[in-house]
Amino acid sequence: MAVAYLNGAFLPVEKAQVSVLDRGFLFGDGVYEVIPVYGGRLFRLAHHLKRLRNSLAGVRIDNPLTDVAWEHMLNELVVRNEGIDQTVYLKVTRGADVKRDHAFPAGVRPTVFAMSSPLPGPRDLGKEAGVRAITLTDIRWQLCNIKAITLLPNVLLRQQAIDAGSAEAILINNGQAIEGAASNLFIVRNGVLITPPNSNALLPGITRDLVLELAANNAIPFREADISEAELHAADEVWLTSSTREISPVVILDEQPVGAGTPGPLWQLMSVLYQDYTNAVRRGEAE
Ligand code: PDD
Repeated sequence: MAVAYLNGAFLPVEKAQVSVLDRGFLFGDGVYEVIPVYGGRLFRLAHHLKRLRNSLAGVRIDNPLTDVAWEHMLNELVVRNEGIDQTVYLKVTRGADVKRDHAFPAGVRPTVFAMSSPLPGPRDLGKEAGVRAITLTDIRWQLCNIKAITLLPNVLLRQQAIDAGSAEAILINNGQAIEGAASNLFIVRNGVLITPPNSNALLPGITRDLVLELAANNAIPFREADISEAELHAADEVWLTSSTREISPVVILDEQPVGAGTPGPLWQLMSVLYQDYTNAVRRGEAE
């Protein structure tokens, strides 16, 4: 049975319970992280903890744990869940008051929860064959850089994509392609890798950062620049990145093939570089 962590204790995930007055339940008032684990090692933990600190500050919740305490607790969670490759989900909500009131309650302790599940393998995600995606209007709020648990727009957008037989929705805001409902966006045009620059319109993805790092270290030309809807549709390659999906090549976009309709050559290269990196993490030679 999977082991979870709740407010200082480890327990079976089915036994973990929070109050119906928890502000996460009442208002979606909290933030979260999703951290992959390769070979029992938390991937890019320092980056995830930094983004968590930024998200907490963005919604004015005091960080309930120090970085050292987070690391200790998450490593224990990984060990207790025994799997080699896992996905750790953690969340912090503003906590449970004695009543429902939008304004912040005084003297309430944040709720801290974490759990782990098996990391889906590449084959489960159809990565080698590529995925289908559709474009949809970005209906989210203006602080998408905060990894908030309030995900109703993302849920509706992802489901609209699933209902259309696609894996992901690519969100369009004022004629610009921003990111996926739960992933960051890259295109390849004339051999150059392009991703939108970080801003409050999108989540600063940890996978995105690593892809840019790998591009820089391997002499792959890249640019952080806006991507118009027309550029998206004219791209030679389209990729979606996230902690759980790694780098997914989009082969059909809005019912049209992307490039040759198969995962492109730069994706093949980046995919190898990325797997090399995760293998180095497994060996304890990279973070
Ligand atoms: N989502 N953009 C959005 C809106 C996301 O929700 C995610 C990740 C990403 C990619 O970020 P990262 O590379 O750090 O995983 C971009 C996670 C996986 C989720 O909600 O389950």
